[in-house]
Amino acid sequence: MTGSDFTPRVFSGIQPSGGLTLGNYLGALKRFVDMQDAATHECIYCMVDLHAVTVWQDPVALKASTREAAAAFMAAGIDPARSILFNQSQVPQHAQLAWVFNCVARMGWMGRMTQWKDKAGKNTENASLGLFAYPALMAADILVYHATHVPVGDDQKQHLELTRDIAAKFNHDFGVDFFPITEPVIEGPATRVMSLRDGTKKMSKSDPSDMSRINMSDDADTIAQKFRKARTDPEPLPDSYEGLKDRPEARNLVDIYAALSGRSTEDIMNEVAGWQWGQFKPHLAEAAVATLAPITDEMTRFMNDPAEIDRILGEGAGRAEEIAAPILTRTYDIMGMVASR
Ligand code: AMP
Ligand code: TRP
Repeated sequence: MTGSDFTPRVFSGIQPSGGLTLGNYLGALKRFVDMQDAATHECIYCMVDLHAVTVWQDPVALKASTREAAAAFMAAGIDPARSILFNQSQVPQHAQLAWVFNCVARMGWMGRMTQWKDKAGKNTENASLGLFAYPALMAADILVYHATHVPVGDDQKQHLELTRDIAAKFNHDFGVDFFPITEPVIEGPATRVMSLRDGTKKMSKSDPSDMSRINMSDDADTIAQKFRKARTDPEPLPDSYEGLKDRPEARNLVDIYAALSGRSTEDIMNEVAGWQWGQFKPHLAEAAVATLAPITDEMTRFMNDPAEIDRILGEGAGRAEEIAAPILTRTYDIMGMVASR
């Protein structure tokens, strides 16, 4: 069975474990808006707070970051009337299906996840059990809606392959064609935005150096300063994209510029061939400010009314649960369990 036998439905999530970055915007949020606007799929977007708490979160900060992420979604163009927008902990079926998938997935599968290895490091004894089981919860997020398409950045590819393995194993173990085999949607020039300090590391909200990332809440001066100080090499820009092959920092800045301006990398190279960094960096900063400043203003406007954000998330959770509840009931039924009295 393939995704095409199911209602076309998009699901994706972002962890509310701090402010969002330009990587989140270009690799995820912007593409969520594009999929909503294409109107070819029903779209469900989620602040995945149950994922965030796989590492300790300050409760007050988590609540604030969840609202801030919701404000960022809406400021970027997610319309809660057209898409379903909510936070994960309000819809209990995510955790319920995650338990089922904990029993379907194998320890060996989880142990091979590179994100687990990176996050747990050498100290696996002391990592939470939730951090190890995290990909089963992610599979549950997607499959509790029978989602067919999942837009994400490149770092989530392995987790989506695991989601397909879990769906296939469940279907096989119970002799059903119940869960769809989800299609990852990893497209465009910015599926892996890299750190501004190190072209081999992805830009991340958890990087200890604030200079390594552009935050969606940074003002124009901060953005200009961060790009000015971004690591590059001494060579000018080459005349083709090919010429950036062994220049990760340089390529990253070109990719960011292409994604911000919605143009192909070839087109960008035609414009900037031979430029020095002193010319390119302010140009790039200007493009970033032109995109982010209106979004930041809108975010601030939404953040001034937290009760309205909570109302929108509550309403979204209700609509999400209407889809998730019958799928969970049917899952329990297939397994010989009873979901409700
Ligand atoms: P996270 O912040 O880890 O919850 O990520 C939320 C979404 O943003 C996922 O789809 C990630 O793949 C995407 N994402 C996070 N960081 C980056 C990055 N540096 N470049 C591209 N996409 C990213
Ligand atoms: N694991 C994803 C990340 O860290 C976030 C996430 C959780 C997600 N559940 C999801 C993304 C379901 C897509 C679909 O980026």
